[in-house]
Amino acid sequence: MAFIEQLAAVEGQTVTLRGWVANKRSSKGLVFIILRDGTGLCQCVADASKLNEEAFSLADKLTQESSVEITGKICRDERQVGGYELRVSDLKVYQLAQDYPITKKAHGVEFLMDNRHLWLRSNRQWAIMRIRNRIIQAIHRFFQERGFIEMDSPIFTGNAAEGTTTLFETDFYDEKAYLAQTGQLYGEAMAMAMGRIYTFGPTFRAEKSKTRRHLSEFWMIEPEIAFCDLDMNMDLIEEFLRYVVEAILEECPEELELLERNIEKLKNVRKPFPRMSYTDAVKIIRGEKDVNGRNSIKTLENDLAELRQRITDIQAEVAEREAKIKAPGMKKGEINFNQNKIAGLKNELKDLEESSKNIPQWIESAKAFEHGNDFGGSDETVLTRLFDSPVMVYNWPAGIKAFYMKRANDPDYVKGVDVLAPEGYGEIVGGSEREDNLDLLVERIKDEGLPMEAFEWYLDLRRYGSVPHSGFGLGLERLVAWICKLPHVRETIPFPRMYGRLFP
Ligand code: 4AD
Ligand code: MG
Repeated sequence: MAFIEQLAAVEGQTVTLRGWVANKRSSKGLVFIILRDGTGLCQCVADASKLNEEAFSLADKLTQESSVEITGKICRDERQVGGYELRVSDLKVYQLAQDYPITKKAHGVEFLMDNRHLWLRSNRQWAIMRIRNRIIQAIHRFFQERGFIEMDSPIFTGNAAEGTTTLFETDFYDEKAYLAQTGQLYGEAMAMAMGRIYTFGPTFRAEKSKTRRHLSEFWMIEPEIAFCDLDMNMDLIEEFLRYVVEAILEECPEELELLERNIEKLKNVRKPFPRMSYTDAVKIIRGEKDVNGRNSIKTLENDLAELRQRITDIQAEVAEREAKIKAPGMKKGEINFNQNKIAGLKNELKDLEESSKNIPQWIESAKAFEHGNDFGGSDETVLTRLFDSPVMVYNWPAGIKAFYMKRANDPDYVKGVDVLAPEGYGEIVGGSEREDNLDLLVERIKDEGLPMEAFEWYLDLRRYGSVPHSGFGLGLERLVAWICKLPHVRETIPFPRMYGRLFP
């Protein structure tokens, strides 16, 4: 028995693989099976002249996703996927799969989501889930190597910590309870017991808007550190994100390549992350302040002009190739070649046209952005496009941030920080120094209209040995989406839960 990822070690030997048929084609007494076993892909060749009749006819009948056990000799073959080929000497079928719904043709996203339980078997999803796994391991390693204690915070909670509009309410033995939006408040208590902790668990938010970065159930990593101020917090976030991205570059080159991820862009995390106050960020977004000689609005306008030029060029090339195909005397090969080119160009055109529609809207909303408002997705994109590494924005208007954030020197602002990922991914981390003064915290809870009794236990942390402390929360799915450069968070988690999606 062997796994495909270990074939290098058994070259020349006869081994047995178990898995599923990813693909099969037959030609002149040969059957080529692409076997998938979860660790990789391997071409298995069944040769009618070398195999008993029964085994060969089984091979010939295999359908996509049939489950099989295949035995044969492993030979090196650079041209094959994975670099090895198995010459079949025996074959056993566990089950001959029925017509598989996911085929090579392009499927719509809703169809794929309805078949998420099967879609997970595809190459891209395979790569994403393996990267997600590695990210999770790297996150634990980072905190464990630094002496943080992992803690499990409750999922049933009586406390609304991240606003009252996104609560999932539930019944807890006739008492009103919520699914946790965050583990932070419990993390703060634990940090006063252990010094430095982190939580890593599912969190829940009833987000009734369909966006490409909101899930109703997502996994969050929340470290909490005693005797830590906002600057130390930002240093930790930077070190942390760099560590995780480096780990993935190191450990998942094959998966990143399969996803066609431009890894040069990921390597930019090695540069220092720019840090700016909210007030400066607003000036930059509005085009009132340049960074590194670049102006947000002018950059967008230039990009739009370039984009429109590129669209015109592509349209011309498509027309030219379409004319070529129709010309008399064209060979079949040339026609196919041009048709493929045209299909590729049209795909690019679709993306470009989409962006050329977005940019004018971004410009409008950037110019109109009002100081005091929270950033929308497009504002984040306008800002982060000027940098290639993640950007940290600190000192936010108190009115748009959570009650627990510590007031800055100017009490209209709080010591919060958001980390915005490059390439349009927006906020991946939200953190802050916490209000450690009992009276100010009581005032904030009252201002928010939150029930004081529910927070008495939390206020105790300010009554008994209160210390400056900070922490942050990283949304795992947003990190996975950025690292894999996915268009939507729905592909970052095995079974996404979001508005309008409870099955499968
Ligand atoms: O900024 P948020 O709301 O911060 C907190 O929850 C704090 N308690 C964290 C802390 O300081 N301990 O959320 C933190 C991160 C966001 O930056 C984002 O990455 C992710 O959680 N997030 C979501 N991810 C997917 N879907 C959603 N609906 C998300 N809401 C937040
Ligand atoms: Mg946030």
